[in-house]
Amino acid sequence: MFLVRLVYASRKSPDFNESDIEQLLASARKHNLANHVTGLLCFNRKYFLQCLEGSRARVNATYHNILNDPRHNDIVMLDYREVDSRKFDAWSMGYMPESSLTTPLNLRYSGTPEFDPYDMSGESAYQMMLELGATVPVI
Ligand SMILES: Cc1cc2nc3c(=O)[nH]c(=O)nc-3n(C[C@H](O)[C@H](O)[C@H](O)COP(=O)(O)O)c2cc1C
Repeated sequence: MFLVRLVYASRKSPDFNESDIEQLLASARKHNLANHVTGLLCFNRKYFLQCLEGSRARVNATYHNILNDPRHNDIVMLDYREVDSRKFDAWSMGYMPESSLTTPLNLRYSGTPEFDPYDMSGESAYQMMLELGATVPVI
C-alpha cells in the first residue's frame, strides 16, 4: 500500500464563516481517523491550505470529497507524490489558525508577507506546513 502526500489550496466560499471551522474539523477528523488519513489544515479566513497523507486510495477518495465540497472553491492541487513516511502522523487533521501564519513565516516561504497559498509552490507550501507542525502547538 503506497503512502502519498497531497497538498492543495482553496478559497473559502462567501457563506463559510470562521465559526464553521470547528464543525468542518470535527467531520474531517472523524473521516480521517476511520481512513488512516493524517495531515494539517491552515486557514486565514480567506484561504485554505491543506496537506493530506495516507494510502493512495484513501487520500484520493478524501480529495474527491473535498473537491465536491461547496464550502470552498478555486481548488488547486499544489503537489501530489508518493512518500516513504508520514510527517503529520500525530494528527488526524491538525489545525493552524490565522494567528500561526505569521508575517516572517509567509515571507520565508512566499513572495508576500500575507498568507496566500496561491502564491506558493507546492514545495514551499509543504515546507511551511512542516515548520508549523514542528514549532507551533497544533490545535
Ligand atoms: C477546507 C476543507 C477541508 C476538508 N478536509 C477534509 C478532510 O481532511 N477529510 C475529510 O474526510 N473531509 C474533509 N473535508 C470535508 C469533505 O469535503 C466532505 O464534506 C466530507 O468528507 C463529507 O463528510 P460528511 O458527509 O460526513 O459531512 C474538508 C472540507 C473542506 C472545505
